[in-house]
Formats: sequence, structure tokens, C-alpha cells
Amino acid sequence: MIEDTEPPRRPSVLWAGRLAEKPEEGAFAFQASIAVDRRLARDDITGSRAHVAMLAARGIIPAGTARALDAELARIDGELENGTLKIDPGAEDIHSFIEGVLTTRLGDPGRMVHAGRSRNDQVALDLRLYLRRTLPELRAELARTALVLLDRAEEHAASVMPGYTHLQRAQPVSLGHWLCAWACALGRDWERLGDALGRLDECPLGSGALAGSTLPLDRGAVAKALGFSGPSLNSMDSVADRDFALEIAAACAIIQTHLSRFCEDMVIWSSEESGFLDLGEAWSTGSSIMPQKKNPDFAELIRGKAGRSAGNLMTLLTLLKGLPYAYDKDLQEDKEALFDSLDTAQNCLRIFRGMTAAARFNTERMEAACAGGFLEATDAAEYLVKKGLPFRKAHETVALIVRDCIALGRRGITERSIEELRKYSPLFDEDLYPSLSPHEALRARDLPGGPAPRELRRQIGVLREKLGG
Ligand code: ARG
Repeated sequence: MIEDTEPPRRPSVLWAGRLAEKPEEGAFAFQASIAVDRRLARDDITGSRAHVAMLAARGIIPAGTARALDAELARIDGELENGTLKIDPGAEDIHSFIEGVLTTRLGDPGRMVHAGRSRNDQVALDLRLYLRRTLPELRAELARTALVLLDRAEEHAASVMPGYTHLQRAQPVSLGHWLCAWACALGRDWERLGDALGRLDECPLGSGALAGSTLPLDRGAVAKALGFSGPSLNSMDSVADRDFALEIAAACAIIQTHLSRFCEDMVIWSSEESGFLDLGEAWSTGSSIMPQKKNPDFAELIRGKAGRSAGNLMTLLTLLKGLPYAYDKDLQEDKEALFDSLDTAQNCLRIFRGMTAAARFNTERMEAACAGGFLEATDAAEYLVKKGLPFRKAHETVALIVRDCIALGRRGITERSIEELRKYSPLFDEDLYPSLSPHEALRARDLPGGPAPRELRRQIGVLREKLGG
């Protein structure tokens, strides 16, 4: 038996009965998870309270004991909340810590709480409870961020800018269309987390170590008390799988990938060469050596954090691969990666939102950049298509015009006279010129999904409706 006189850094462990020797100090610390699972304290208590109520209802523990346990669990919850009870950093994990406090304070009643339960189903429950409690916060963060993008998109529904493919000027779009594209991506991230939440709706408690229990537990009642739609189907699956952690880590990695791309655009736009964006002094940093510098460090750091989230996903995939069923201690490694992905997403979204709300876009510069890159070329070809020319011929005709423009030092098709243009195709008319202005090009792109201001406002409305804005 582990003795009561143990040094404080070596608290008695739940499994001390079987092993005559105390665990080696370094090895004990190595396998302890308190530093990571301490954030499950509240959820562990929530789960224990439901378990205790059910044990009493089924006559497995006396009603009076259940009342004492429940009151003490509530007290521990309050004390952890207000800081009068500190989590012992030398404890093995959050489950042993709380059971240890119960036992120290109540004696034998504390020793009754674990009937019909294993830390395997306990941790599977705690993690699910934690995610069901915190994922809505992350989704709200996503929605808030997307709504800021949509506000800025509406503000810039008619601000023309060059759209790029291959980072080469391609066709005119609006800044609003661009910002709305980012909001679309975050909207799907919001949905993805909603889907993941849906699959967290089964209560694993009662699965025990892997094979349930011989005690007459009421799994349905516990599931109901904890707000799940029901108990999980298979006890081995419930303690062995962490696919819910995988898919949430994947959703976080996708969020970070999105943010990373948006930030890449912001970094490029903040360059002197582009000049489309001024992030402002509050959202930039200086250089320790170059006095003139105003660097987009926040955007760069968010871009960089995509690496850690992708890494966390890889950690979890690798962790699960090849693990024999059911529970293995390897599974303890799931939380550090998952918590880090959740924290990273939450923090990056908050910073990105602030940066986006404050960003000053140089719309004059964007509009000016629409000239000179032959952004009107596709529209000129479509002009000919509307007059009956097959598209491939129209494409060749306009390509020739562009080549000659470049050779002649002309910056746009509209710098050629109608007589000159008619030499390429008699179908050209004076109405070509107004149709090729960037604003007209924008207005004309009014198909569903297009950048025309009216159509863009419809897209903004759809997203606002979805995200509750
Ligand atoms: N700290 C453990 C984890 O996070 C709790 C479950 C321990 N179970 C066990 N059989 N050692 O996975």
C-alpha cells in the first residue's frame, strides 16, 4: 500500500492496491497527465455528479452518500472556480485528483464514486463534455469573424480591384467579392464544427474500462442527465476511438489553412509594391534595426500557425494508427494536440478579426491596378461571342490585339481606335469601350456567385442569415 505519509509530490494513486512498490518518481511524472487534463476539471465533476445520482437511483450507493458526494463535488467545483482549491500539479491526472479530494474530505463515501466506472470511459466522457461546451465558443468566434468580413465586404461591394490567378492580374472583381470569398470559407468551417458536434452526441459513460459493468447501471439516465441524446452503442468503441478528436483537429487545421491564405494576401497587399492595404500601426510591428519598417507580423504569425495545427492533426493520426483495441495509454497524448489546435484557432480568429476590422484598404490604388494588365481581355472576347463569333476565334482575335498592344506600348485594348480594332474583327463597335471599363465589367458579372455589387449583396445576405448576423 502507498502510505499516507507520502511526500506531497507523490500523491497516492488510484491503482496503488495492486502494486507493492511506489512508482519511480521520474517515471510517475512521465506518465502523469495533470498538466494537460486539468482543464477537464469542470467536466470531470459534471460527469461524476451524473454518475453519483444514477448510482443512488439504482441502489448501488445509499441516497445519503450520494447527497454528500454531490454536495462535495459542487463545493469542489466552486472552490476550483474561485481559486480556493488549487489543482495539485503532482497529481496523476484530473480524475485521481478530484476523487482524491473527495476521499480526503469524506472518507468512505469518497471511495464509492468510482463504482461501475473506469478512467477510460471517464476521460472519454470528459473530453466529449469539454468539446460540447467549448466548440460552440469556437463556432461563435468563427461566426463573428465571418460577419466582420461581410461588413467590410458590403462596404466595398463596388470597390473594383484586379482579381488574380497565378498571382497575375486576371479579371476585375471587387474587394467586397474577395472578402466575401473568405467569409464563405469560414462559414464552411463553422458548419464543419457543427457536424463534428453532431457526432459528439453519444454518452460513453458506462462503457467502463472496455466491457461495461456487471452493476445495474442506467446508462440512458446518465446520458439524459448530461444532455446527450443517448448512451453510446458499443463500449469498446467508446473507450478506444478518438475519431471525434481527429475530425475536430482536421477542422481546426482547415481553419488555420484558410486564415493562412487570407493572411498571405494581406502580407502581399501590405507590401510597397502592392500598396493595397495599410494594416495600421496597432496591427503592425517595427524592426529592431531598420527604423523605417512597419511589418505585418500578426498576419505572418497567423500564417505560420497553420503549421502547428497541421502538425497536431498529424500527431493524432499517427497516435491512433496501429493502436490495438481497446484503450491504450497512448490515447492520453490526444489532448495536448487537440487543445493546442483549439486554442490556436480561437486566438488566431480573434487577432484576424481585429486586424480585418481595422484594415485600411487603398481602393484608389486597387482601381488603378485594374488598368494596364489587360483585365478586359476576356470581356472583349465575350463581346465578340455575343456578336456570334465562336469563342476560340474570339480568344485568338483578342490575344492578337493584346500582343500588338504590348508591342506598340499600349496599356489596354481601349487605347486602340475603333478603326484599328475593326482590322482584327469587323464585329467591334463603339459600344465596346464602355463595356470594358472595370466598373462595367463588375456590373455585368451578375450571375449567381459573381462579383456584381447587387449579386454580391445577395451572397452577403445568404451568409449573414446562415451565421445569425
Ligand atoms: N490520463 C488518462 C488519459 O488521458 C486517463 C485514463 C487512464 N486510464 C488508464 N487505464 N491508465 O487517457
